[in-house]
Amino acid sequence: MTDFTRINKFVSDEMTIVHDMGHAYDHVKRVFSLAMEVGEKLGAELKILGAAALLHDVGRTREAETGISHSISSGEIGHDILVKVGYSQDEIDMVKQVIRTHRFSEGLKPNSLEGQILSDVDKLDAIGAIGIYRAIAHAASIGVGVNGFLQHADEKLLKLKDMMYTDLARQYANERHRFLETFVRQLRTEMS
Ligand code: NI
Repeated sequence: MTDFTRINKFVSDEMTIVHDMGHAYDHVKRVFSLAMEVGEKLGAELKILGAAALLHDVGRTREAETGISHSISSGEIGHDILVKVGYSQDEIDMVKQVIRTHRFSEGLKPNSLEGQILSDVDKLDAIGAIGIYRAIAHAASIGVGVNGFLQHADEKLLKLKDMMYTDLARQYANERHRFLETFVRQLRTEMS
């Protein structure tokens, strides 16, 4: 089993100043653990998947300034630490490719099992109880309130369960989706 300690340390150091609470280091930790769990069950290459999961959002803070998607910059930022911990050039290319396709909003389909899993678990963290927490925190931070949350739920979050690539993630998604759906319905009732 690959030792991810140094990559993990690198990421947590890089992300100490992230103000977007929805995509802070705690999101990365959850994505990493779930990716490892799903990856192990599906026989994925954990060395590639684990590194990609840890690094996938590391470029997010710079995106606002540079305009470069973090699906590209996160891989670039992670390059040196991957070299240091002994990843080969081929492995680094694979990690970058997995990160490149994790963002479903860019329309790039993952071309590996590892890419599918990262995309799936990233979406799983956006639904269920944790997804609700993140979406409300985000809505509050940008000042759009309850209606902003509901709009985001309708336009994006409630559609995620049908966008899973792997059957296992789809199973996890169904339960989280039901919870989200119930919450949204109850919220609408109370608001009306
Ligand atoms: Ni993410």
